[in-house]
Amino acid sequence: SKDLVGLHHVTAQEIELILDTAAPMKEIIKRNIKKVPTLRGRTVVTVFYEASTRTRTSFELAAKYLSADTVGIAVATSSVNKGESLKDTALNIAAMGADVVVLRHPMAGAAELLARTLDVSVINAGDGAHEHPSQALLDLFTVREKKGRLAGLKVAIIGDILHSRVARSDIWGYTKMGAEVYLAGPATLIPPGIEKMGARVCGSLEEALEGADVINILRIQLERQQQGLFPSLREYSRIFGLNSDRLKLAAPDALVMHPGPMNRGVEISPDVAYGQQSVINEQVTNGVAVRMALLYLLIGGGA
Ligand code: CP
Repeated sequence: SKDLVGLHHVTAQEIELILDTAAPMKEIIKRNIKKVPTLRGRTVVTVFYEASTRTRTSFELAAKYLSADTVGIAVATSSVNKGESLKDTALNIAAMGADVVVLRHPMAGAAELLARTLDVSVINAGDGAHEHPSQALLDLFTVREKKGRLAGLKVAIIGDILHSRVARSDIWGYTKMGAEVYLAGPATLIPPGIEKMGARVCGSLEEALEGADVINILRIQLERQQQGLFPSLREYSRIFGLNSDRLKLAAPDALVMHPGPMNRGVEISPDVAYGQQSVINEQVTNGVAVRMALLYLLIGGGA
């Protein structure tokens, strides 16, 4: 496909290819080679209708490391403010010669709409609560690098599943690669029917953590909560927060992951977030490698 809209329709073989391509990209980063000529003459445009630190910066760095030109559209100061639609905004960006548009948008389906509208490649950098495929791919890359495999692992995803596009892309990604996904969180933040995606909904946090090889903690998305979805942050932390005592329920070598940004002290205690088992910072580095791989495969003639 010319686009990456989500992992729902991506095959295990395609995921494997992306992860295999990201491995040599990580070597480029580790050796501090800041420029390889692979995407010289190509242009990557990032269009973010929602805030981002990691995704936007890592796509732009990934493009620069591969010698592509990058332009970031600051939506707040663009003609979106004058009422220009997403479709017209994107058509104009494509008309200026972009080879790939990286889009974050609050509406589920926005990236799909754009992919159908534009001839150039579209990468979904998060659309509502639908999908965030590059985040899931960097999660898979991190786990495969640390554990040597994905198949057969027990992966716990804890927290605000309802609002999480990361959870949905992770569920597709992990299950396609043969891992087992266990979900836990307040009943009000577990969407009905989510088990149809192939994940198991647990009755307690402990059930999800028991023997887990990977623990993926999600942020409580305060900006998207409606009243009454959970009692209070303090109560959430008491019942669902990952602390060092609860971590002992998991496998001794379990990986602690978080896509960021963290509400430190709410869904995860600081000692666990920065502890021996945490790979949260490595996830961020791996995000650059995975996004280099995606850009190469989509617009570098690598697919
Ligand atoms: N994980 C993630 O998407 O982070 P940002 O919102 O900072 O891009």
